[in-house]
Amino acid sequence: MRGLGRGNIPGLMDIHCHILYGVDDGARNVRVTRKMLEMAWEDGIRAMIATPHYRPDRWPVSWEQREAALAKTRRLAQELDPDFRIYTGNEIFYREDAAARLAEGAAATLADSRYVLVEFHPQDSYEYLRQGLQSLRMEGYEVILAHWERYECLLQEPERLEELAGSGIGIQSNADAVLGDRGRAVKKRTRDMLEAGLVHYVATDCHGIQGRTPQLRGAYEYIRKKVGEETAYRVCVENPRKIIESASQGNPL
Ligand SMILES: [Fe+2]
Repeated sequence: MRGLGRGNIPGLMDIHCHILYGVDDGARNVRVTRKMLEMAWEDGIRAMIATPHYRPDRWPVSWEQREAALAKTRRLAQELDPDFRIYTGNEIFYREDAAARLAEGAAATLADSRYVLVEFHPQDSYEYLRQGLQSLRMEGYEVILAHWERYECLLQEPERLEELAGSGIGIQSNADAVLGDRGRAVKKRTRDMLEAGLVHYVATDCHGIQGRTPQLRGAYEYIRKKVGEETAYRVCVENPRKIIESASQGNPL
């Protein structure tokens, strides 16, 4: 199978997904990974950054285990389409030692770039989020906050998202939030944030073939219709591509 997605939609890129099997609460086994890849490809996704949770207290996964699952997932993707790319990464559950774990290579940046995807507990305070994100920026990383719509402190005070984005933090929304699966209020807020240019990435955060699925096209189409094609392209293709291209241009860290 080759070629781009159906219609006029360009090859989509997913920067946040749990497609590797057996390393977190994502794909349960290799069969699920294969189905997820098929679903993603059908949907028009042509590159994925595999971002299993980096949270050793919950999922004690060795680097070798992650690499083995990644190698197998890449082979499966190439069987579908030789141009279907799977990159390495992590969704790092923030702790104060995050920079140290990145420096020693236990936690992975996105696609070997200097971008990192970071998550927090939904009830963490805004100050904790802000300081954690900024501490990684101070270490020279380009920091992306995973699924901003999960955090109570940001939903309560939208201007905080503006502050984070204004200070150079990348903001990622999940496709299901864009489409309303997390409620109408979150859907409306996400649309407002997309219109204001405060959301830089939309990704699937897929964990399987039900619920959060490896599909971006619906969100792309929604954003294209409601906000504009330029924004849809920027958050689903252009900004994700910049991450991958920055890696191929050499990592300054
Ligand atoms: Fe995730």
